[in-house]
Amino acid sequence: MIPTPHINVSEQGVIAETVLMPGDPLRAKFIAETYLENPVQFNSVRNMFGFTGTYKGKKVSVMGSGMGMPSIGIYSYELLNFYGVKNIIRIGSCGAIQEDVKIRDIIIGMSASTTSNYASQYNLPGTYAPTASWPLMKKALTIAENKAIPVKVGNILSADIFYDDEPEVWKRWARMGVLAIEMEAAALYMNAARAGANAICILTVSDSLVSHEATSAEERQTSFTNMMEIALELA
Ligand code: ADE
Repeated sequence: MIPTPHINVSEQGVIAETVLMPGDPLRAKFIAETYLENPVQFNSVRNMFGFTGTYKGKKVSVMGSGMGMPSIGIYSYELLNFYGVKNIIRIGSCGAIQEDVKIRDIIIGMSASTTSNYASQYNLPGTYAPTASWPLMKKALTIAENKAIPVKVGNILSADIFYDDEPEVWKRWARMGVLAIEMEAAALYMNAARAGANAICILTVSDSLVSHEATSAEERQTSFTNMMEIALELA
């Protein structure tokens, strides 16, 4: 079934077994050009750029996921089920909902609560708990420790709605100990689990719903070096 409707690659092996997925395709381009040796672009369908290169001699790909669970759901499904991808490392941004989670902190989503009904497709007789891959988590924590990069690990919320009609609804998730809000991890974790593959979500805090601080778009594009270094070592 390749090429797929959203990835114009007709051969196996063009996409690496490990794919880094930022939300923004231009960030994928930036990461490929900044960190990978000999990056070659493999996708431009809908401008969802994907590249394969090497990092310290190891083949790795980087591709945009787009925003939201329908979008990352499509791209990660095709990568995992049609291109033999085994590991997806989402790198993204999130909004803090705890007082002690500050902008530019790095968060790793151990689990992803969600407002999406993505799990309904599996017809489970209960509530599924989308969870990061333990091997990737264990390795990410070792890398962070070795590099002396502080990380906060916990439950994140993958929300379907950015501009919520009830603007303070996040406080109810905060009461349950959820660290931050983003919009993709739960679908990624479910697709990876269903495919028998690995996924993890590493985030930098771009804004705080508690303090109302935010980083600029320019900082989001270029200043997340620590997060990218963990992700690249993990690959
Ligand atoms: N990504 C970055 N900040 C966010 C927020 N406040 N809500 C949802 N996703 C986000």
